[in-house]
Amino acid sequence: MIDTNKKEWWKNAVFYEIYPKSFLDTNGDGIGDIRGIIQKLDYFSYLGIDALWLCPVYSSPMKDNGYDISDYYNIHPDFGSKKDIKELVKEANKRNIYIIMDLVVNHCSDQHPWFQDVKKNENSPYRDYFIIRQGDGDNPPNNWRSVFGGSVWEKLKGNEYYYHTFTKEQPDLNWECSRMRHEIYEMMKYWLDIGIKGFRVDAITYIKKEPDMRTRDADGPDGLAGLAEVSENYPGIEDFLEEMKQETFQKYDAFSVAEISRVKDEMLKKMIGKGGLFSSIFDFSYLDLDVKGDWYLPDSITADRIKAKMNHSQEQAQSCGGYLSVVLENHDENRSVGKFIKSGEYTWKGAAMLATWNLTLRGFPFLYQGEEIGMTNREWKSMSEFDDVWTPSQFEMALKTGLNAETAFQLVSRRSRDNSRTPMQWDCSENAGFTTGTPWILLNDNYKKVNVKSQMGKQGSLLEYYRQLIQLRKSQEYGNVLTEGSISFPECSQSDLIVYIREIEGKQLLIILNFSDKEVSWPSEFHLGWNKIMGNYECEMPRKNEVLLPYEAAVLERML
Ligand code: NOJ
Ligand code: CA
Repeated sequence: MIDTNKKEWWKNAVFYEIYPKSFLDTNGDGIGDIRGIIQKLDYFSYLGIDALWLCPVYSSPMKDNGYDISDYYNIHPDFGSKKDIKELVKEANKRNIYIIMDLVVNHCSDQHPWFQDVKKNENSPYRDYFIIRQGDGDNPPNNWRSVFGGSVWEKLKGNEYYYHTFTKEQPDLNWECSRMRHEIYEMMKYWLDIGIKGFRVDAITYIKKEPDMRTRDADGPDGLAGLAEVSENYPGIEDFLEEMKQETFQKYDAFSVAEISRVKDEMLKKMIGKGGLFSSIFDFSYLDLDVKGDWYLPDSITADRIKAKMNHSQEQAQSCGGYLSVVLENHDENRSVGKFIKSGEYTWKGAAMLATWNLTLRGFPFLYQGEEIGMTNREWKSMSEFDDVWTPSQFEMALKTGLNAETAFQLVSRRSRDNSRTPMQWDCSENAGFTTGTPWILLNDNYKKVNVKSQMGKQGSLLEYYRQLIQLRKSQEYGNVLTEGSISFPECSQSDLIVYIREIEGKQLLIILNFSDKEVSWPSEFHLGWNKIMGNYECEMPRKNEVLLPYEAAVLERML
């Protein structure tokens, strides 16, 4: 159990991400709600979870499932009420579980009163809260591409345009405007005062833009240019982040984990080193290895490719004294089992191997709902089944690159964010126990086989294996080495294996993960001197026939 009085409580915590819309519906409207989360708090205690990150539950027209906020101070009625969220915080705290909310402040919704006022009123006091520019003749101000495809610009009035990093219904907030920034800080403090313990900070990487906003060389068949160089971690962003930290997180000793990728070495220290801007940032570095560059060109994942990315980010974080947040899944990703593991006889062993990986790296582990029971991608049958706002433009983009409709559909089916948004599978009753009504999104057909009820308390199930790993992380004996220990990556003669050593005060743990569905020879360098303490196969290791079984994972302790 975490010590809730400890200042940096998150250093020993295991986090769990909830996508409320798909978690548990308690009033039969087909949409998950806050009361559903309250109902399952004992489930989290059983699993050993310390903190829950809730994806947005604020008022929203739901163009991007709540990542388009129209009132930062209120709860969307589909999810419940302010009373419900307060009850959630209280009930969770009783069980030593903390609540982390999503902070979506790169943009708001076009239905937010600030933006509505700008649309109506030429002299609106909120004009400066948004990024508004004159068009270039008949064209938008520049050729920058929004993250979900198409221009970042949308007409406001006459020849005036406003800027949006994501959909046109998500206008970007202008972080150059001090008044706007301070309104945001006030709002953050409001939620911290209610008792939440921190924020997952959405899309914050984009808040600073290249000031001249010049047209660039096109980098795609749409004639547009991506945002990487002009608005991802753009120099100067640290001033905004420092101010935000001082005005909010720091005053409350709050936890903050930012959605930021591709951070350069020198910047990482500022972000998460001692006294850094955030408590942590997510490590997404190996989550997109199933695609080449852009998501529509599939690629095969090998242990070597993972190692190149993972070792770099782990070493980079360690050398700056900071901690990354370790994730294999979230509400924007396809499910990890289909991504990293070949389907077949050993899929379940593979899922347990991934669990071992996620919970033994150096960093703060985040699980995503359903990962603990091995939920998989859905088998989609047509484009009309998708709900996600991004999926249709992904399909269009795939067609534009010359792929035929069938291939484009297959690729979209594999990568669509809806794969992680199908309802949580609680049991094998109708609708997987998620709702008594009609679920807002289709279920995965495999729920009768893959669900919480059939795994809970069952020896050898994936759920129980996750529980065991979480207990190991919290144990008197190994907790310290797994949370605070250093990480190193020894040379290993087998390329299909991922091997690392965690170490603190002379105590060493060796983690060996077989990333293949074949037997692999036990690497001779680790033959002697190690004693297995946990793994996804019952057998002892190293063992006489000297092989690691398909997708075998083992945690071993150095014998003194
Ligand atoms: C990242 C979130 O995780 C994603 O779901 C959302 O669509 C974008 N940011 C925009 O807020
Ligand atoms: Ca509901």
